[in-house]
Amino acid sequence: MCANLPLDQILQGDCVEILERLPEKSVDLIFADPPYNLQLQKELWRPNQTRVDAVDDDWDHYDSLEAYDAFCRQWIAACRRVLKDTGTLWVIGSYHNIFRIGALLQDLGFWFLNDVIWIKTNPMPNFRGVRFTNAHETLLWVSKFKGARYTFNHHALKALNDDLQMRSDWLLPICNGPERIRHNGQKAHSTQKPEALLYRVLTAASCPGDVVLDPFFGSGTTGAVAKKLRRHWIGIEREAEYIRVAEERLAQVQPLSEEDAVYALEGRAPAKTRRLPFGRLLEAGLLQPGQSLYYRGERAQAAQVRADGRLMLDGLCASIHGLASQLSGGAPANGWLAWYYEDENQRLCVIDELRQRLLADSHGAA
Ligand SMILES: C[S@@+](CC[C@H](N)C(=O)[O-])C[C@H]1O[C@@H](n2cnc3c(N)ncnc32)[C@H](O)[C@@H]1O
Repeated sequence: MCANLPLDQILQGDCVEILERLPEKSVDLIFADPPYNLQLQKELWRPNQTRVDAVDDDWDHYDSLEAYDAFCRQWIAACRRVLKDTGTLWVIGSYHNIFRIGALLQDLGFWFLNDVIWIKTNPMPNFRGVRFTNAHETLLWVSKFKGARYTFNHHALKALNDDLQMRSDWLLPICNGPERIRHNGQKAHSTQKPEALLYRVLTAASCPGDVVLDPFFGSGTTGAVAKKLRRHWIGIEREAEYIRVAEERLAQVQPLSEEDAVYALEGRAPAKTRRLPFGRLLEAGLLQPGQSLYYRGERAQAAQVRADGRLMLDGLCASIHGLASQLSGGAPANGWLAWYYEDENQRLCVIDELRQRLLADSHGAA
């Protein structure tokens, strides 16, 4: 890791100027939630004569589309300089800005990996009833150039999605309820993003220990999730008031244990290791259907192995990864490290040992 990176800090100022002072090729992932340039001309009112709490902040105003484009070109180029060649950039936006940003990304040499649609399960209605309810935002995910190596934790995402491959349409609610930071009843930041969105982005495209940078830090959502998932983070924000909000928020975040965060390393393991399904242990006779496996080595949490390789515990039935995830409250889990078996000396041993044994045997035989 680069020695002079200001890790786990919020840097106050203009993101272009600050990015230009950071070392080249030093960060693993950038999540950018730039101004939308909504161009709101006047206040919005509901039919019942209450005012809509819309995004009308000064930081969202640009004199013209040209001025907005010029600013975006600068920050995107500055991001590209600090991103490692193996790093990826995510940008979130709405129809107001995302097409302009998409074209700039291509012009500046980035390579599209996906566009992800965040479908809001609880969007704000179109109060005047003159258009469709605007119920989604778009995330662009790009690597630095065509053919670049990059992180994609396929296994962790699949585990997160009940063992189904994660799709590019994400149904998640907007940030509301207790997660929404308020001061005297007013939103502390008009565009606070839901942590669930960042949880998915960081799980997909970074590993514990990586450096995640957000040039438009706002209320600090990216930093809060990065800290929780044991990634390093760097936030850049111009407004002192938002920095105060973010600092207070980050001070309250507890990182996951190292073991819980380690699942993402699975995505880095050699292909040979990743391909071994749990069922192979049954086929090879290293475990038997009906045998007990103990969650995190706790005898009180014993699951039974079914003949199809799934585990049963207290009415729950899922893969080793799925059940471990359910038992840990929904966080992604690496079942190979979560379950223990009893050996011939009544010692509890992690099942990953059996996997390693089988892999070593099959390697020797090949
Ligand atoms: C869309 S908001 C980001 C919200 C954030 N994702 C969150 O969850 O709270 C954009 C933020 O960028 C900040 N900003 C705008 N222009 C900036 C610039 N040139 N340099 C640094 N920050 C800037 C604004 O103050 C605002 O807080």
